[in-house]
Amino acid sequence: MNPDQNPEHILAASAHRNPYPYYAALAAGPALVFDAPRKLWIASSAASVKDVLGNPACRVRPVAEPVPTAIVGSAAGEVFGHLVRMNEGLRHDAPKLALQRFLAGVDLDRVQARTGALALQTAGQGALRGAALSRWAFEVPVMAVADMLGFEEAELPQVALWMADFVACLSPLSTPEQLAAAGEAASALLTRFSGLAQAAPAQPGSALARLQHEAAQAGWHDAQALLCNAVGLLSQTYEATAGLVGNSIVALATQPGLLDAMGREPGPLLQMVNEVSRHDPSIHNTRRFVAEATQVAGVSLQAGDVVLLVLAAAGRDPLCNARPDEFLLERLDREVPGFGHGAHQCPGQALGCSIAAAAVRALLVSGRLKDAASFSWQYRASMNARIPVFTA
Ligand code: HEM
Repeated sequence: MNPDQNPEHILAASAHRNPYPYYAALAAGPALVFDAPRKLWIASSAASVKDVLGNPACRVRPVAEPVPTAIVGSAAGEVFGHLVRMNEGLRHDAPKLALQRFLAGVDLDRVQARTGALALQTAGQGALRGAALSRWAFEVPVMAVADMLGFEEAELPQVALWMADFVACLSPLSTPEQLAAAGEAASALLTRFSGLAQAAPAQPGSALARLQHEAAQAGWHDAQALLCNAVGLLSQTYEATAGLVGNSIVALATQPGLLDAMGREPGPLLQMVNEVSRHDPSIHNTRRFVAEATQVAGVSLQAGDVVLLVLAAAGRDPLCNARPDEFLLERLDREVPGFGHGAHQCPGQALGCSIAAAAVRALLVSGRLKDAASFSWQYRASMNARIPVFTA
């Protein structure tokens, strides 16, 4: 792939070496453009992305297919069907409020300390680069969230394996074997969360007890949906935070002077991760499905239309962030469209950034990133996520 050539099309952009000039041209063009071969509308400026995300006719799932047909009837389908991320209205609002309050109450200092410890344990001894570094970037964040949710330390590697299997059900590219494994993983995770939920009344300070309390306060009384959304906290973490960790390492390897500066004084690492999540985010796009005829920026959309929202382009829109192509640790009013906007905006932003910063800090201070400038990587094949795969 030639980094000086534009991606072949919008769905090839998140895995392209440098999609940002292509995104800039798109965002400077019309508010919505129709991509006929892929049969989707593209919104890429900050304003048009916000417009679509705020439009009630634009839904998170196609009306006729609330759960992907391939997983209907499996445990993976059950989890998917309950996720706040995949629902609107009553099945979204109270659960979302409960999750938001639960996540807002998380002790981020404690999570950072635990993440640092898990990051070092998982890194093992000696150098960490190539495939081992990629594996580490996936494992640490999901283990940190499972730890926060009350799993025993000895179970954390298994949770990471289950999650690797489960997220396959979210991809249209998965094979039947992968979908079967996703169902088994969902079933195992639900059983395990059910055990944690049953133990919660006797452990009022536990994460599941807090989640149950917030659910009751929000008027969310569906115990099985709560378990499914607990699985959802792990799945929402998994690829997005692995990508944020990976893209932060890429920033250290490529942004002039950054590795030296962070090596001398890792204090501003959280600021660095925040800027990475704007400048080179892990989630490049999301979709909306038009449920009834509507208008966005003067363009008529019909029921059945699909809109691709290029969050990564919106983060580089100069009307959203000044000097958008520059990587600046100190930004006043940094806007980060990569965490979404409106009703479905990510409630895990602070948690995800804290985990990514703590994981990268552990590598930095243990000296494992001193050769980062010599790392090499490609990007994982994905239509929406940007996750570096380190090759050396
Ligand atoms: C750090 C990397 C992360 C990124 C880049 C990210 C990004 C996003 C984005 C873009 C959305 C909105 C999707 C849409 O509207 O179509 C979202 C939703 C969500 N995220 Fe995150 N996320 C991250 C980490 C996390 C973590 C750590 C958690 C929780 C443990 C989390 C929980 C959620 C939930 C529950 C939703 C659904 C919200 C709703 O539909 O109302 N995320 N995330």
